[in-house]
Amino acid sequence: MKCKYDVVIIGAGVAGLHTALSLDDDTDVLVLAKDYAWECNTFYAQGGVAVAVDEEDIPYHIKDTLNAGAGLCDEGAVDILCHEGPVVIKEFIEHGFKFDKDRDGNLLYTKEAAHSRNRILHAGGDATGRHIHQFLMDKLKFPILYNTQVTDLLIENGVCYGVRVYHNNEIFNIYAKKVVIASGGVGSLYEYHTNARTISADMQGICLMRNIELRDMEMMQFHPTVFVQSSAVRKQLLSESLRGEGAKVIDEDGKRFLFDYDDRGELSPRNIVSQAIFDYQLKTNKKVFLDLSNFEEGFFMKRFPSIYFNMTNMGYNVPFDLVPISPAFHYAMGGIKSDFFGRVPSVSSLYTVGESANTRVHGANRLASNSLLEGLVFSKRVALDIKLTLKEKKKKVEFDEVEPSLINKIDKNLKNELRDLMWNCAGIKREEKKLKKALNRVEDMLKLSIGKLLRLRLLSSREIIKSALNRKESLGAHYIEKGEKI
Ligand code: SIN
Repeated sequence: MKCKYDVVIIGAGVAGLHTALSLDDDTDVLVLAKDYAWECNTFYAQGGVAVAVDEEDIPYHIKDTLNAGAGLCDEGAVDILCHEGPVVIKEFIEHGFKFDKDRDGNLLYTKEAAHSRNRILHAGGDATGRHIHQFLMDKLKFPILYNTQVTDLLIENGVCYGVRVYHNNEIFNIYAKKVVIASGGVGSLYEYHTNARTISADMQGICLMRNIELRDMEMMQFHPTVFVQSSAVRKQLLSESLRGEGAKVIDEDGKRFLFDYDDRGELSPRNIVSQAIFDYQLKTNKKVFLDLSNFEEGFFMKRFPSIYFNMTNMGYNVPFDLVPISPAFHYAMGGIKSDFFGRVPSVSSLYTVGESANTRVHGANRLASNSLLEGLVFSKRVALDIKLTLKEKKKKVEFDEVEPSLINKIDKNLKNELRDLMWNCAGIKREEKKLKKALNRVEDMLKLSIGKLLRLRLLSSREIIKSALNRKESLGAHYIEKGEKI
């Protein structure tokens, strides 16, 4: 197998595939997918792509993003997202992508929480991510190596030379002039999550092993409306756009209790809705539901076909039945620190983009549907920087091809214990006592004879917990109940 490329991209979601699409055709690129290419968060994204509807809307998109981000956003990053977003979307449409339109051919924009106007484009109703993924896969002009687990980054003296991988029962190195981490977030660390099963914080763990800085790792976003009562690993998301288009959150007595927490009710920012549901359930012990009865059945089937299909398969007669909901882990705002061209500051030739990256574009709480846009906008910048620097000379360095055992016998039970620990002790609501308990247990697990993949999960978990312990006040997704201290 060929083991030298110009660019290796780790991850085949929107950020990875759009980086590939934005590179020149004669660049020698390899995309690595941990599983099938579609087993990524992009594929399961429902709501859509938030983008300013016209020039006048750009400042409002910026304002909404900054407000949701609760003071932790980097204004430069937000400026790039909201100004370059419309340009990238226009190009995407010119490339042939089809967002949903009305009968007269006008783009349809929906509303989601904390957006001051309807600015969410969607495709296939609630299958925006799947359509984007399919489109990017169709356009991909480079090979993908499937079922490939990255086990390490090849770094010497602050320069990245490639990756070590496990593929087809073999460990080997793939050398590249540039390496792009576009591997997504950390979903599998948590008991309840909406993420693809491949998303398990491996690259974040490798970065920690290699002393590469992660930032804002306490900022973990919980989606408020998830159907968690199934045995599936990935829980069924009930898109924000349902609430944007009128669905209500009620308790078992029909009370719309969200208004007790925030005047914006169902349309409050995501962190506020999630925290309110969690708190209300804890305090009242009442069940919480999503009431979809505002929708007419024919419209619902057409506008939300995936949710209709999946919930019907699980025995719910939607939109008539109330659907029990709970918050669940959804998105990591924290990630590998990078600049606005995806460059990792401490390691040259290494980039990160999409959910794995932290440019602070989302601050302490991501505004709904800003993540697909982030993937599109920042991947184009990564590709631009690669194009400008690809010809730079690099030393030839050889690395050995050994790895400790990736999986050990005891790992499975510990992995399950970790999910439970993270959900209960480093989840929506944080308390010092529980975070310390989780930290101690994670440190203990790290001392056991475990495989490398579990070690990577544990290192990422430890970083989340430590970051949560370091932030003493509630901010955005980092929620400490009043009166409790960290
Ligand atoms: C959703 O459809 O609710 C998810 C959108 C997002 O995560 O931004």
